[in-house]
Order: sequence, then structure tokens, then C-alpha cells
Amino acid sequence: MNRISTTVSAVALMISGAAFAEPQAEVLHWWTSGGEAKSVAVLQQEFADNGGTWTDMPVAGGGGDAAMQALRARVLAGNAPTAVQLKGPAIQEWYEEGVLADISSVAEAQGWADVLPASIAGHMKCEGTWCAAPVNVHRVDWIWANADVLESNGIAMPTSWDEFNAAAEKLQAAGIIPLAHGGQAWQDATVFEAVALGILGSDGYRKAFVDLDQATLTSPEMVAVFDQMRTMRGFVDPNFPGRDWNLATAMVMNGEAAFQIMGDWAKGEFLAAGKAPGEDFLCASTPGEGFLYNVDSFAMFAVDGGDKQAGQALLAELIVGKNFQKVFNLNKGSIPARTDVALDEFDSCAILSSDEMAASNEGGSLLPSYAHGMALRGAQSGAITDVVTQHFNSDMSSEDAVNALWAAVANSL
Ligand code: BGC
Repeated sequence: MNRISTTVSAVALMISGAAFAEPQAEVLHWWTSGGEAKSVAVLQQEFADNGGTWTDMPVAGGGGDAAMQALRARVLAGNAPTAVQLKGPAIQEWYEEGVLADISSVAEAQGWADVLPASIAGHMKCEGTWCAAPVNVHRVDWIWANADVLESNGIAMPTSWDEFNAAAEKLQAAGIIPLAHGGQAWQDATVFEAVALGILGSDGYRKAFVDLDQATLTSPEMVAVFDQMRTMRGFVDPNFPGRDWNLATAMVMNGEAAFQIMGDWAKGEFLAAGKAPGEDFLCASTPGEGFLYNVDSFAMFAVDGGDKQAGQALLAELIVGKNFQKVFNLNKGSIPARTDVALDEFDSCAILSSDEMAASNEGGSLLPSYAHGMALRGAQSGAITDVVTQHFNSDMSSEDAVNALWAAVANSL
């Protein structure tokens, strides 16, 4: 059978399956914190309201590393889940293994190309077909703060890394933990890429983490990035190893710590705890220009059975639906992937995100997050993160870290 007739019969099966079957989906995701669980419940509810039966497969672990291991085990066992939270180049990696379902019939019927920015649509395509459905745009380069702690210590939101360091020293002297952090590799990488964007600038970030340019990865500026990481290591409390990101957010909420550098899923935690932006907590982009985006999405795996295929078609349609994109993102801390969702119910941090995303898109500084799997394939991002976390958790010099960084990247190519 040639490629065209395979595609046609798959679409026909999806449509005939959808007509007779009761939609079912087993959904693998890693949304288990308070804000995340509230957000995924919106999708579960919409799926049920439309006659679907949802089997939940949550795999705890921020950033999704554990979820991705669970996925690999299921696919290797020949028993892939129907729908999987998957993003960035990992979508294309799975497509190349021949295990993804084509959801183009839904995407075309729903006019996704007209409502999604080209930069986001590009991540959802595999050789011209639609192979994933986008949920949102998370921004990674954020700094969150406890409003009272800053005010009572006479500190403004830092606009440079020097200001951040000065504020942190002042807070430390006052007995407050300056930086709430969880020592897990993906959290180290999250802080690192925000620092790197600030110090290298958007062109330098792109050269380093999109192009893997040797000169940039080994530059004096990259040494300065590791120097700043070393300084920040001094601003975290001794109990940071292994701490989950949402527990670090809770430290900022309760005033034990002043700042957290984390994507805006942290805002989902503040909101789920009833905290208000501008009053209880503050948000600002981390020092420097640019915007690091992280788009959550779902891919459907090739499965047998009309019920499951109908479930995949329904899920894909709901995920990009206007109502879901609004309600889910109000809870999740992110902004809609669709460009035609009104933002009037969104808070000031979301409006800032949307405005700065548009401005950085115009100015060429809208960049994929490497730490959240948007910029590089797994082997390369993993190689970088290994060095970042090794440096953060040892007394390795910045020069040695830069050498190790290039060696690890070169070895992964
Ligand atoms: C995901 C978010 C999630 C966060 C923490 C990120 O990689 O994009 O949706 O909330 O990890 O688990």
C-alpha cells in the first residue's frame, strides 16, 4: 500500500471509528502538583462531558523525566498509551520510530493552521502531517517573589544579575533563604538557561543551545554563566537536594524564601493556593532580553480499536478547542497556544507573558527552552544538563565546566 492510501484508510478508520465507538483514552502525563492536577482535571471533565472514558496514567516527577521513562517502557512492551504529554523534538523522535498516529484529519477539520502561530505549529508537524496537539505556551525565564518579604526588606524585583546577587546577600543577612530551589537536574537546568539567556543574550543563547556552536559553548561569556551559577549555589538552603519544584514554590509562598526561578507552572501553584499576583507574589522576567518558550502538547500513539481512535480524535479536538485553551491555561499559569482566545480573564503575569512573547517574536528573541525539551533532541539536552548539574553540585571550576560542556556535547553528536 502506498503512503497516500495508508493515510486515507487511517482517516476513514478514525471517522468510521468515531461514528460507532465510545471514545476512550488512557492518558500519560506528569501533571501531579496542586496547580497541575487542577488543570488536567479541566480536560478530564470536558472529555467526560463529550462521552469519553478517561483512564489516568499520571507519572509524578517535574519536567517529565520519569514520565518519559514510563513511556519508553510501555512502547517497548508493545502497549503504548493512547495519548501522551510529549513536546518539542521528542515528538519527531517518536514519529521517526513509526509509533505515532496521524491527527491531520482533526487538525484540518478544526482549522488549526489558522489559529496557531507558525512557530508553534512547526513543533506539531512531522513531515508535513500533524502529529501533536498544543495545549499552551509556558514561559521559562521567570523570577517569582514573595511580595511582603521584598517590601519589608526594601528590595525591588532585580533587573540585572548583579542586582539579584545584591538582593540575595541582603536577604541572607536578614535570615531569609534568598533562592528557593529544588536540587533535581531539570531544575538546575531551568535556572541555568535563564541565567544563560541573561548573560549570553538571545543570539548567544541561540548559538549555544539551538546551534550547539563550539565557540559560544566555550566562550568567556559561558564561563561567566557558570560563575553566576556558582554564586547562586550560595543562595540556596542546605536542604535543597531532591526537593520537588512545587515545594520550592511553597517556600516562597510562606515567606521562608524570597525568590524562585521557574517557569510559569509555578504561578499555577500560587493561584491554586489562593494567592494573587501583584499582592501576595510578584512575577518578572529574569534579567536580560528574550523569551524562552515551552509548549506542552499531546501526541497520539498508534493503537488498535475504534474506541481508542475515537478517543484520540476527541481529545485532539478538545485540546485545541477555544474553551479548553482558556480554562486550562487560567489554572496552569501558561497562556493559550491559540491566538484567538481573549485574555481579559487572565492576570497581569499572563498579559506580560503574551506581550513579551509578541515583542520577542518581532525582535527575533523568541527562543525554545533547552531545559524543557523544546530546542534539542534528548541526547544533546541530556549531555548539557549532566554538566550543569555536576557543576552545581560540586566545586568544579567554571573553566572546567565549560570544557566538560563542549566535550559532552561533541560526544553526543
Ligand atoms: C511542563 C509543565 C510542567 C512542569 C513541571 C514542564 O516541563 O512543560 O507543564 O508543569 O514541567 O512538571
